[in-house]
Amino acid sequence: MSQPQQTLPREAYLSAEWYAAEQQYLFGHSWQYLGPADEMPAAGHYRCVQLGSYPMLLLRDQDGTLRLLHNLCRHRGMPLLEGSGALPQHLRCPYHSWTYQQDGSLRALPQAERFPCLNKAEMGLKRGALDEWQGLMFGHTQPDAVPLAQWFAGLEDTLAPHDLSACEEQPVEVHTLKANWKVFVENYMDGYHLRHLHSVSLGKHYDHDAIAQGQLGPHWYFYQPLTAEGHKAALSSSSYPLIPGQDPKHLGAYVHLLFPNLGITASEESWSLLHIEPLDALTTRVTIRSWAMPVSTLRYLMLREPKSPGSADHPVKTGDLMGEDIAVCEAIQRSMHSPAYQVGALAEELEAPLAHFQQAILSYLKDMKANR
Ligand code: FES
Ligand SMILES: [Fe+2]
Repeated sequence: MSQPQQTLPREAYLSAEWYAAEQQYLFGHSWQYLGPADEMPAAGHYRCVQLGSYPMLLLRDQDGTLRLLHNLCRHRGMPLLEGSGALPQHLRCPYHSWTYQQDGSLRALPQAERFPCLNKAEMGLKRGALDEWQGLMFGHTQPDAVPLAQWFAGLEDTLAPHDLSACEEQPVEVHTLKANWKVFVENYMDGYHLRHLHSVSLGKHYDHDAIAQGQLGPHWYFYQPLTAEGHKAALSSSSYPLIPGQDPKHLGAYVHLLFPNLGITASEESWSLLHIEPLDALTTRVTIRSWAMPVSTLRYLMLREPKSPGSADHPVKTGDLMGEDIAVCEAIQRSMHSPAYQVGALAEELEAPLAHFQQAILSYLKDMKANR
């Protein structure tokens, strides 16, 4: 078995140049998560979305067709709409009043005689692509993007069996980290730290010796079963109810990274989406939406209490798994500012997903740059 290698240089986690290249070639040229499919704009409404370097317009026209268009007027690039809201019957550019139909086609331009060579039929708003996978909506800046089913091919078979139909959404958590987005993703996929950093917060709940993980293209999947102790705790009255659909004899954690930046984490009692968005080279926003079976308000408050507070005088021993991860990510990011910073080695298997992730980024950036 070969030792996994760190291949991204230190600058990849620090520099504005890397951030700009990722915005253009990675986030701007890969399928990006837009939200659950049932939360898309209603007929006659729109929402502006940013896919890497590309400002886009997600809209549903009066006829009910959902569209993703580039939010750039074809005359000189003025954004047509801002924010979100009701979609005008005609989209009028505020600069020189070119108007577009709701399907993006160019309807009219004032003083058209000043543009004798302009072919109106070719001057509609540029189109992106939209597609749905497992109830989640994704957008792409390019209309000829690889089909989403092909992009995620095979991943369905690795997903958690949870049936969320009776679950309720929990309060949304938003964390803004002083760390590069890749530091967060690499920590998310690191199976080596679980029994160390999270020795208090995870305790002996999961069997860290029985991890099964792999890659499908650039995407990562992971499963680890509960220990006997974890099983007992999961079935006790002091836990959230189990989410239906799971085999009670085979409970565990299912974790995915849909490349490049959407995490899915399912435990026996919760199912979460982690949207990991770089705000700049050194700042990342992680938005976590979770679903669980309903419980009474009082029980909910009791269950939200950290089970093992640990030694709260140190930020990496809070008893709160996410708090520990954030503290480590921000500390690693501070270390990266030192010219002496170096990754000495990566653990076989347990840290191999980090090497895959880095390779995927490098080859993605190389391919995309070569094609533009
Ligand atoms: S930039 Fe839109 S009409 Fe001129
Ligand atoms: Fe962690």
